[in-house]
Amino acid sequence: AHQWRGVIREYADRLPVDEDTRIVSLGEGGTPLVKAPALSELIDGEVYLKVEGMNPTGSFKDRGMTMAITAAVAEGAEAVVCASTGNTSASAAAYATQAGLTCAVLVPNGKIAMGKLSQAVAHGAELIQVDGNFDGCLDVARKLSEAYPVFLVNSVNPARIQGQKTAAFEVVDALGDAPDLHLLPVGNAGNITAYWKGYREYAETWKHPLTGAEVAPVASKRPTMWGFQAAGSAPIVAGHPVTEPDTVATAIRIGNPASWEQAEAARDESGGVIEAVTDQEILEAHRWLSAKEGVFVEPASASGAAGLLKKHAAGEVPSGMRVVITVTGHGLKDPDWALRNADGSDITPTHLPQDAEVIARQLGL
Ligand code: F0G
Repeated sequence: AHQWRGVIREYADRLPVDEDTRIVSLGEGGTPLVKAPALSELIDGEVYLKVEGMNPTGSFKDRGMTMAITAAVAEGAEAVVCASTGNTSASAAAYATQAGLTCAVLVPNGKIAMGKLSQAVAHGAELIQVDGNFDGCLDVARKLSEAYPVFLVNSVNPARIQGQKTAAFEVVDALGDAPDLHLLPVGNAGNITAYWKGYREYAETWKHPLTGAEVAPVASKRPTMWGFQAAGSAPIVAGHPVTEPDTVATAIRIGNPASWEQAEAARDESGGVIEAVTDQEILEAHRWLSAKEGVFVEPASASGAAGLLKKHAAGEVPSGMRVVITVTGHGLKDPDWALRNADGSDITPTHLPQDAEVIARQLGL
């Protein structure tokens, strides 16, 4: 049987690597594209979820990190640093460990989900909770990488975008062509940048930067990109940085995205939009995905689905569309939200004695 070899080996002809590259990989990518029956029925079209929680550390960040840590090793780095709302730190810590590098991560104090924090600690990263938000952490991480011998692995590093573009390749490979619409959350805006790059490259004859080999186009078209920020952290929608970003979707609690211009380019070149969804809309979509589609994601990851529900309610989704929504991270990263009702009250599992009759009555059997 074919064993998926990670995104660098699978897409080596479309990434800036050659046969001498020492690849650092945990087998990332090759994630399922799952048909979402309830969303498909709702919009009278075909909706697929690109389930990025199935990556080795539970988020899409692993696609970029295999490239970033591979690049760090090629440059002879001994230490890497990143700022993170949690997932990047978990991924950096895991890949740095495999490569034998030291890893430092800067996270906003008290504002990252416990699952992500424990991953970074488990992999032996130097985890520093900083007084400040993600934007402040990124500022410090950049300064450290400029003044000290430490390699920056945030998505401002072009290697990250190179790795993450492979998700668009996988979508086209699975569907046979690009979808009509691609929806995803927008935080620091690296991922929308990467998908757009991937879709563009797959629809063109592409020349490999190292070998010069030309690769034929695979897709006949490119999708329209719809990105969604959380309403309390929606600088691109507002048109200016947000100094105190806030949202339950801590992964995208970002007020000044590093790839702002590239995200706007993806939006404009594809004829798409970047809009805001409220925390309530995010949590409703989070519940929809787990309760109706069977896919458990973390809150931020539900922003794309929240966007589809919102645009559908506004009558802005024509029928017959083929739609892909990236769900960016696993529900187990931040599981508490599933144990809360829509009104914020706790969901308490029923507790009964060890008695079949009593339990049968409870189950209505
Ligand atoms: N979804 C999840 C689960 C994320 O962790 C992130 C970003 C995004 C969406 C947004 O992607 O930044 O490329 O626009 N998390 C980063 C981190 C910021 O540090 O883990 P983006």
